[in-house]
Amino acid sequence: MMMQVAPSILSADFGNLAHDVKAICDGGCDLVHVDVMDGHFVPNLTIGPVVVEAVAKASTKPLDIHLMVENNSFFVDLFAPLKPKYISFHIEEEKHPHRLIQKIRSLDISPAITLNPHTPPEAIEFLLEDIDMVLLMSVNPGFGGQSFIPSVIEKAKRLKALIEKRNPNCLIEVDGGVSDKNIELLKEAGVDIVVAGSFIYKHPNGVAKAIELLK
Ligand code: DX5
Ligand code: ZN
Repeated sequence: MMMQVAPSILSADFGNLAHDVKAICDGGCDLVHVDVMDGHFVPNLTIGPVVVEAVAKASTKPLDIHLMVENNSFFVDLFAPLKPKYISFHIEEEKHPHRLIQKIRSLDISPAITLNPHTPPEAIEFLLEDIDMVLLMSVNPGFGGQSFIPSVIEKAKRLKALIEKRNPNCLIEVDGGVSDKNIELLKEAGVDIVVAGSFIYKHPNGVAKAIELLK
């Protein structure tokens, strides 16, 4: 299986957002990754449904919404009408993950769980059968352009073993500091989808070339 690529629009030019979304779609991306930050769970604020609706209009690829927020359920309600493919929430911020997963699924959206760099994969072992994807953070969430934390490679391998046992259909996505320098290690570790912001949007040869390199 070829690596799937989900460019993060956090590194796009927000003055030319529709153009920058079209560029990654024409450039062969698989998903459009949308980082939603609330200024509470992470020390940064990004975009709400008004802007994401414009992204959805410009996009020919499914949306992958990464919530970095307190009060996940409220944000699921805000973004569900935009019909994203995935909504992922941070396990560190959810008291009732199973209930939230059922809610996301009932809205016809694929539920996914995100783990911060310090959270062990075993924390979600008994949720794996209920979700479609695990998002492993390879930076501390909040900003684009940070350095890749190498221990995520070992974590992806451990998660892969748990997935084989509990739900082989569940995909692994990695987000943060992904580039041509670590893509081969990620592939070997069993990662299915990579998120990349600065590597794609700041690539000297353009977004399509950057996507092709990661694939
Ligand atoms: C960080 C976000 C990432 C970020 C990735 O909190 O979740 O999606 O935009 O950007 P790069 O690829 O530049 O690390
Ligand atoms: Zn993200």
